[in-house]
Amino acid sequence: MASTRRVGLLTGGGDCPGLNAVIRAVTKSLVLQHGAQIIGFENGFEGLVKQRIRKLEYSDVSGILSRGGTILGSSNKCNPFRYHERGGADVSSGVLQYYHELGLDAVVGIGGDGTMSILHRFQELGMNTVGVPKTIDNDLVGTDRTFGFDTAVAIAVDAIDRLHTTAQSHSRVMIIETMGRYAGWIALYAGVAGGADIILLPEIEYDLEEIARVCRNREIGGQHFTIIAIAEGARPRGGEMVVGEVVTDSPDPVRLGGIGHFLKQQLETVIKSEIRTSVLGHIQRGGTPTAYDRNLATLYGSYAAAMVAERQYGRMVALQNNRVTSVALSEVANRTRTVPQDSPMIASAIAVGTSLGISNFDLRLNGSQITHAIS
Ligand code: F6P
Repeated sequence: MASTRRVGLLTGGGDCPGLNAVIRAVTKSLVLQHGAQIIGFENGFEGLVKQRIRKLEYSDVSGILSRGGTILGSSNKCNPFRYHERGGADVSSGVLQYYHELGLDAVVGIGGDGTMSILHRFQELGMNTVGVPKTIDNDLVGTDRTFGFDTAVAIAVDAIDRLHTTAQSHSRVMIIETMGRYAGWIALYAGVAGGADIILLPEIEYDLEEIARVCRNREIGGQHFTIIAIAEGARPRGGEMVVGEVVTDSPDPVRLGGIGHFLKQQLETVIKSEIRTSVLGHIQRGGTPTAYDRNLATLYGSYAAAMVAERQYGRMVALQNNRVTSVALSEVANRTRTVPQDSPMIASAIAVGTSLGISNFDLRLNGSQITHAIS
């Protein structure tokens, strides 16, 4: 990378464990392998709009591998193509001008679908971009994994384990609401790992009667408690998602939350057991990343640095079939990777007797492959 001298770096969207590990990997790789200078933008694209930058030296990123959050700050409100602080005006030309003034060879953006969509638009306008897939939701198209997901699942599993003991003591139905707006990966993986009795996903509208039937059957069978893992984006058959807030002009305008309490109210009308709801919320995004996420973040960050060195722009780092590779940002932008109904994890959940909130007959009608395809 003889002529690559300056590389911009930002973290966009909601934070998640492993962001600092990627910042460290991108910076150390580019400095050590290519002698590049790294310019960090503060608070995601806000730093490009407001010209708030920080030089990142090798020593600045030492000791941050295991730290949650992001040393650069982040924002899930700032979209330079519809800037919230100027009534939704397009300020992208100012951003592009600043990029050229700084003499940057490329910008590495670490973020979710909103960030990848914005990077894609800037790439089309002449900015050299590389994306790194982040989000606890694991819902980015083109990659089998986003970093942060494993940590969020581990936190949710720990919570389910704790709810098990108190549910058992009081013979209660415990509802745990996880994040996951349009994709139920966290609820599914945490629900299976935590042994939840019922798992409710945005991808499968639940049937209240079926949930009540499972709770009653457990009672009859001598198990006087039930654990229900529900994604925040889940909804009853024919019903709506429970929207907490809509943040206009944000690249991710819809903020969810509350379906766990709604389900409690619904369920109280059809079963006799005491019911409690716990909402995990942002706890899933905080704290130290798991070893898996630190490794994935380091793989992604060093690969992103190599992509910059080789001028592979307009692409996002990805994990496919256990190999790190990259995909075009055009394939990722404005799309969501939801849980397919023929997911092996859904088949496994059903195989061990977990309910997905609708009868297996209905699930089959929905197109789910409820047994494993053995080849
Ligand atoms: O996209 C990540 C995520 O944590 C979602 O799971 C959740 O719905 C959303 O961000 C919450 O956003 P905020 O941090 O604005 O509350």
